[in-house]
Amino acid sequence: MEPPPKERSWKKAPRISRHQRISTRYMRDRWERFLSQDKRGMLMIEGVPVDELVARYGTPIYVYVESEIRKRAQRFKKVFGPEIGLQFAVKCNSNLEILRILREEGFELDCSSVGELILGLLADYKPKQLSFTNLYKNERDLFFATKMGVQSVTADSIEDIEQIARTAKKLKKHIDVAIRVNPMLEIGSYSTRDNKYGIPIGYIDRAIDLARKSPFVDLNGFHFFGGYVHETRVYKAAARAMIKLVRRCQDRGIKIKSLSLGGGFPAAVGDEHAFPIEDMKDFPRWFNRLVERNGIVNPLRLVFEPGKSIVLNAGIGLTKVVSKKRLGLKKRMVVVDSSAYNFVPDALVQEGLHYDLLPASKMNAPRIHKLTVGGNTCDAWEIISKDLHMPKLRAGDLLAIMDVGAYAQVMASNFNTIKRAAIVLMRPDGTTKLIRRRDRYSEMFAPELDVLKIAGRDELEHYNNLYRVNVDKYWRGQVKRRKGRNGNGNGNGHSPLAKKFRELEEAAAR
Ligand SMILES: Cc1ncc(COP(=O)(O)O)c(C=O)c1O
Repeated sequence: MEPPPKERSWKKAPRISRHQRISTRYMRDRWERFLSQDKRGMLMIEGVPVDELVARYGTPIYVYVESEIRKRAQRFKKVFGPEIGLQFAVKCNSNLEILRILREEGFELDCSSVGELILGLLADYKPKQLSFTNLYKNERDLFFATKMGVQSVTADSIEDIEQIARTAKKLKKHIDVAIRVNPMLEIGSYSTRDNKYGIPIGYIDRAIDLARKSPFVDLNGFHFFGGYVHETRVYKAAARAMIKLVRRCQDRGIKIKSLSLGGGFPAAVGDEHAFPIEDMKDFPRWFNRLVERNGIVNPLRLVFEPGKSIVLNAGIGLTKVVSKKRLGLKKRMVVVDSSAYNFVPDALVQEGLHYDLLPASKMNAPRIHKLTVGGNTCDAWEIISKDLHMPKLRAGDLLAIMDVGAYAQVMASNFNTIKRAAIVLMRPDGTTKLIRRRDRYSEMFAPELDVLKIAGRDELEHYNNLYRVNVDKYWRGQVKRRKGRNGNGNGNGHSPLAKKFRELEEAAAR
C-alpha cells in the first residue's frame, strides 16, 4: 500500500545522524526495525534522535512508528488472506490518523460505542465497514447505528437482544444482529468461565429464540471475544463451539453469515512472550475444513478483531526526569514529568506489568544501580516502574517508555487536572506529524463551566496555554482581551477570572 501523499503538516526530515545498533542489554527484537542510537548515546527512532523530537514537541509525548503499524497490519493480512475479515479494535487506539492508516491497509473497524462509530466515519470508513460490539447499548445508540447502516450490531445479553428488538420495531427497520457467545472454554490455564462477555452457551438457544421472535431482528452472526489469548488453540476451540451453533441454526432454517472470533492476540510488554501471528497461518485452511466437516452450506465470513497486536509495540512514550531522590542507602527514585494516570495507565491497571524503560539520552552510560520511576501526580501509589537497571540519571535526562501504542493514550485521564500528552507520528524517512495536540484547559473545564457559568468559553480560550503566556500579566489582569464571539470577552482585567486572580493577589499581600 502506498504511503499517504505528503501533506503540509509533515515536518521535514531532519539530517539523519549516523546511527548504530543499540546495545543488546536494552534491545528487544520487536524494536529492531525502528530503534537505533547515535554516537552520543541518544536513542533514535527511525533515525531521528529523541532530543530533536523533544526539542520540537516537548515532553511527555507519544511517538507512533507508522512503518511498524503498517508492517503488523500487513502480516495479519498475509496470514489470514483476503477471505477473512480484519476489523481493527478502535478502543485500543482511536487516533484518527491511525484509523486512516489501517483503512489504507484494508482493515474494517470494530467499534464499541457511538463515539467510535463517528470516528470511523471521520476516518472515511463506510458504515458497512463498521461493526458495533459492546456490552450494552441504549435506544439512542441503536437509533444512531441503525440509521447509519452499520455492518452488524452484536448483542451481548438477553436484555441487549430485547433492547435491539424494541428499537428495531420502533424504527421499523431491520437490524443485522450477531449474538456474542461465551462458550465456557477451559484450556489449560485459560478459561472464559468467569468472563463478562457474551451469553453463556447454556442459554444460547433461549437467546436465538428471542431474536427469532422479533420480525425486525435479522440474526445472522455469532461473536466470541476471549480476552487475553496466549495460545492459538483457544481460537480453534472457540471456532469448534461456534460452528456447532451455526450448524444448529442451519438445521432450524436460520442462515448464519458471519462468525467473529474477536481480538485478544498477544503483544509483548517487557520480557513477556507473544506468539507471532504467523503461528496462525494454518488457521484459514483448518477453518474451511471445519466448516465442510460440519456440513455448513451457506458461505460464512470469518472475522478477527485485533487491537493491541497491531499497535502496542509501535508506540513509545518519551518523558523527562525532573528530580532524583535517594531513599536510604540502597533505594533510589527518579520522578518524571508524566504519570501512570495521565500517560501510561496500564501501569496502574495491570498488576505485574513491567514496562521496558530505556535511558533514552544515556544509552551508552553504564548501568550502575536499580531504581524506581515515579510519576508526577499526587498519589502515593502512582509508580510507573520499579527495579530498573539504570545509569545515573539526573533532571533533564530522557526516558523512553516502550510498547505504549495501545490502551495508553485512550485510557489516560486528566487526574490532577493535568493535560494529556500529544501524539507524533513518525515515518520511515524521519518526517514527523503531530496527530494529536496536548489537551487544553478550556476543554478540560468545559463540562463544569458550561453549567456553572463561572467563566465564558471565550474567556477560557485565553487560558488554554497559560504557561506559555506571561502569567504575571494575567495575574494583574493586564492582558488585552479580544472581544468574545458572544460579546462577553472583556479586556482590561474585568473578567471573572482576572477578578479572582486580583482578589487572590490582594489576599496574598495581606
Ligand atoms: C469485542 C472486542 N474485539 C476486539 C478487542 C481487541 O482486543 P485486543 O486489543 O486484545 O486485540 C476487544 C478488546 O477489548 C474487544 O472487546
